Amino acid sequence: MTAVTVRAPAKVNLQLAVGPLRGDGYHDLVNVFHAVSLVDEVTAAPAGRLEVTVEAAPSARVAIEGVPVDGDNLAARAARLVAARLGVEPQVSLRIRKAIPVAGGMAGGSADAAAALVACARLWDDRDDPLLGRDDLLEIGAALGSDVPFAVLGGTAVGLGRGERLTPALTRGTFHWVFATADGGLSTPAVYAECDRLREEHGEPAAMPEVSQALMTALATGDVKGLGAALTNDLQPAALRLRPSLDRTLAAGRDAGAIGALVSGSGPTCAFLAESEGHAADLAAALEGAGVARSVVRAQGPYPGATII
Ligand code: C5P
Repeated sequence: MTAVTVRAPAKVNLQLAVGPLRGDGYHDLVNVFHAVSLVDEVTAAPAGRLEVTVEAAPSARVAIEGVPVDGDNLAARAARLVAARLGVEPQVSLRIRKAIPVAGGMAGGSADAAAALVACARLWDDRDDPLLGRDDLLEIGAALGSDVPFAVLGGTAVGLGRGERLTPALTRGTFHWVFATADGGLSTPAVYAECDRLREEHGEPAAMPEVSQALMTALATGDVKGLGAALTNDLQPAALRLRPSLDRTLAAGRDAGAIGALVSGSGPTCAFLAESEGHAADLAAALEGAGVARSVVRAQGPYPGATII
């Protein structure tokens, strides 16, 4: 086998309910993940040693500075874990083509890790009945990061624990989204820490989160207005505190008629739900005109998880 290319999706969190801080430094979550048609691609090819190159996808305005091109890259760590499980040397070149914003709250690094897991597993073991099945890749993914298993799985899913224990959610139809990316990323640990700090400041201890039944019903019936009304993100106040300019971005989307508007995950990307494909085009044009984003991207969900192309 010469090379394997895998595509993996970005996510937006439809519900991100953050529970108490655990002893291991993570928070218990109810994390409803929704994969969208904004994808990174990873090509794995045999090489003399483990190499990583990162480039922006031709059509995407992704700033790739700051993405590690050494062994720290999440995709390289994924390759080493797969190699160890298969008992081979991690001699592979990983070429990462990014369209997902870096440190943008859309799990771009997790998508790269998921793509590398699937690509390396195929590159090093192309039997009809491979040694590492999907469950093994989900387990290895969870060791790499809380959002990696979902990038393998795709679709729409409820994540419990730190977000890695996944159950697919029933959905109907396609939802149309517009994403407004920002200059510069936000650090996920910093946003969680700010969330804890704000709760302490306001004397609001975290409760154990519960899945929103209104959200599940809206998804199952394809009710876009219901979905818009049910979108919630407990990290949003923290992201806004750390990046106050996002207030203007969210307001611009709401003023332009978005059905729902929220910070995606730990931000700073903002996500806007549209009523239809045409409405998404209008919304994207309005956001571009408002000058409140680095770039404006349209995408649809749900979208499949890591897929060999
Ligand atoms: O799992 P991952 O490496 O993506 O998590 C990055 C950071 O986000 C963690 O180190 C932690 O600070 C925070 N986090 C959390 N609770 C979660 C998931 C992530 O506090 N459930």
